Amino acid sequence: MLNILGIESSCDETGIALCTPCGKMLGHALHSQIALHQAYGGVVPELAARDHIQRLMPLLQAVLNESNVMLNDVDAIACTVGPGLPGALMTGSMFGAALAMGLNKPFMPIHHMEAHLLTPLLGNPELNFPFTALLVSGGHTQLYAVQGLGQYALMGETLDDAAGEAFDKVAKMLGLPYPGGPALAKLAELGNPSRFALPRPMLHSGQFEFSFSGLKTAVLTTAMRLAQSAQAAQKPTANAALHQGIHLNPQDAADLAASFQAAVVEVLAHKCVQAVRTNQHKHLVVSGGVGANQALRQILLTKAQEIAFQVHFPAPALCTDNGIMVAFAGALHAAANPDLLKLRNYAVPVKARWAL
Ligand code: KG4
Ligand code: ZN
Repeated sequence: MLNILGIESSCDETGIALCTPCGKMLGHALHSQIALHQAYGGVVPELAARDHIQRLMPLLQAVLNESNVMLNDVDAIACTVGPGLPGALMTGSMFGAALAMGLNKPFMPIHHMEAHLLTPLLGNPELNFPFTALLVSGGHTQLYAVQGLGQYALMGETLDDAAGEAFDKVAKMLGLPYPGGPALAKLAELGNPSRFALPRPMLHSGQFEFSFSGLKTAVLTTAMRLAQSAQAAQKPTANAALHQGIHLNPQDAADLAASFQAAVVEVLAHKCVQAVRTNQHKHLVVSGGVGANQALRQILLTKAQEIAFQVHFPAPALCTDNGIMVAFAGALHAAANPDLLKLRNYAVPVKARWAL
C-alpha cells in the first residue's frame, strides 16, 4: 500500500496529510495563521512564509504520529508549488523537495487549484467524471468542464476580483475582522438580503465570465450613503471607508452584508446552472474557500433539485486550504500514472501565477 504525503503552504494555512491512493486518510494536521495576520487586517506575505517554516516540522511529526507511519514508509511527497504567495509556496516546496531527496522518494508538484477541484471526489463514490466545477477562492473564480484527471477546460473566470476577494474587501469596508469572508457570511445571517437592490454583474451575459468589482463599489456607495444619513456631521471618505471600515448601525450592516452575499451567490449559482446545462453534465462540484458559504450551498442545492443535477461540496473544513487535498491530488495522479513514482526530480518549480 502506498502512502502519499501532502504539503500545503500557498497562503495562510500550513497543512500536512498522509493518504493512500484510494483516498484513505491516515493522518492530517493544519495550522491556521489567522491570529498572526489579524492585527494587519489581511495576510502579510513575509510573516506567512516565516510562520510556515516554523510549523512544517511539528505538523509533519504530528501526522506521522497520528498515522503510525515511519518517515521511511512514505512513498511520495506531493506538494503545492503554485499558484499562491511566492515566499509561502517556497517554504513548503523546499521542505517537501528536501524531504523527498533525503528519503530518495518522488517529489510531486501539485497545482493548488487542481487540489481544490479534486477534493469533492474524496470519499464520495456518487461523484464520477465528467463534471462541471466551480472553483471559488480568495484568488480565483472559475468554471471548468472536467473530463477526467488532468483534463480541465476553463469555461470562464472572473475579469476582476475573485468572489472570496470581494467578500474580504466588503468585510473590510464594514469593519469586520480578517478573515473577512466567514465574518461577513456570519453577519449576513442576521440581515435582510432583499433590503438593498445591488447589481448582479454579468448575470445575463450568456457567458461564463464573472465580475465582482462593480458590486463591491455599489456596496461602498450604499454604505457611505447610510453612514451619511445616520451621522450627517461625520462624513466618511471612500478612502477611509476602504481602510478603516464604515461604521453603520448593526441592522444596516447586517442587511448590507446579506444583500451583498445574495448578489454574489445568485450570480455564481446562475452561471453554474448555465455551465452544467451547456456541458450536459449530471454533476456540479464546488470547491475553494467560498464553497464553505452556506448561502451558496443552499441556493445550489435548491437549483440542483429543480433542474435534476447533483451538486457536491467538500466538508466546509476541506473547502479552505489544507494538506488533505494536496495528498489526495498526489494520490490520484500516482494511481493513474504509476510511472510518476519512478521520477527523482527535485527541482522546485514554484509559480505564483499558474493556469490550470
Ligand atoms: O481556498 P481558500 O482557503 O484560499 C485560497 O486559495 O484563496 O479561500 C479563502 C477565501 C477567502 O477569500 C475567504 O474569505 C473565503 O475563501 N471564505 C468565505 C467563507 N469561508 C472562506 N467566503 C464566504 N463565505 C464563507 N463562509
Ligand atoms: Zn485555496
